[in-house]
Amino acid sequence: MSLTREDDPVVLPDDPSFGPEVQIDYPGYRSTRWRAPDRPLATLPEELHRPDGPVFGEHAIDPFDNDLTAQHEGEPLGERIVVTGRVLDEDGRAIRNALVEVWQANAAGRYRHEVDLHPAPLDPNFSGAGRCLTDGEGRYRFVTVKPGAYPWGNHENAWRPAHIHFSIFGRAFTQRLVTQMYFPGDPLFAYDPIFNSVRDPKARELLVARFAIETTEPAWALGYEWDVVLRRTLFE
Ligand SMILES: [Fe+2]
Repeated sequence: MSLTREDDPVVLPDDPSFGPEVQIDYPGYRSTRWRAPDRPLATLPEELHRPDGPVFGEHAIDPFDNDLTAQHEGEPLGERIVVTGRVLDEDGRAIRNALVEVWQANAAGRYRHEVDLHPAPLDPNFSGAGRCLTDGEGRYRFVTVKPGAYPWGNHENAWRPAHIHFSIFGRAFTQRLVTQMYFPGDPLFAYDPIFNSVRDPKARELLVARFAIETTEPAWALGYEWDVVLRRTLFE
């Protein structure tokens, strides 16, 4: 299957708040054929948006949940990294106490999951999941290892660029963004239909973290910075 944009018949309007009448699947990413919404958006009950509705509380977070290298007896193999950034609204204001969750493959490109059949080793010292709340400046911070690329069955010789999955919850269950963070300079970008399903090249660049020497900790871990800007409507 070709992954070139020329083959992509989907056209999105400039307005990011596109409606359900716009096709949002992506031909190169096969499972979007079944996953992409093809019915009008449903409005959730008002009570789920209310500030006094069900939310996540701080008690659900362990102080060490954001260190994926410290969840077992030993340290995981791989390149130790710090991934940090701020969750902001469109006006650059910090979004505090947002629940940021991550999951990722280990350094060999293998998930600890029963459906991951990639013949790469599991790491007994790496589960690959973490979470934290953003602080008063909207900042999150994780310590982990750089995930490896892994093959997937989307098309012939398909490999995912190294990435970390992110989920960001606001203060209600209805306020959630799920996305992926990538690493700069990955040679697999051009071949990945998930990365390229974001049609706007400038928007795609926003999915790529920045190597940050100022975040890099001497003789310990490389640093990457990745900010997330949420549309105002998500958190209002
Ligand atoms: Fe993944």
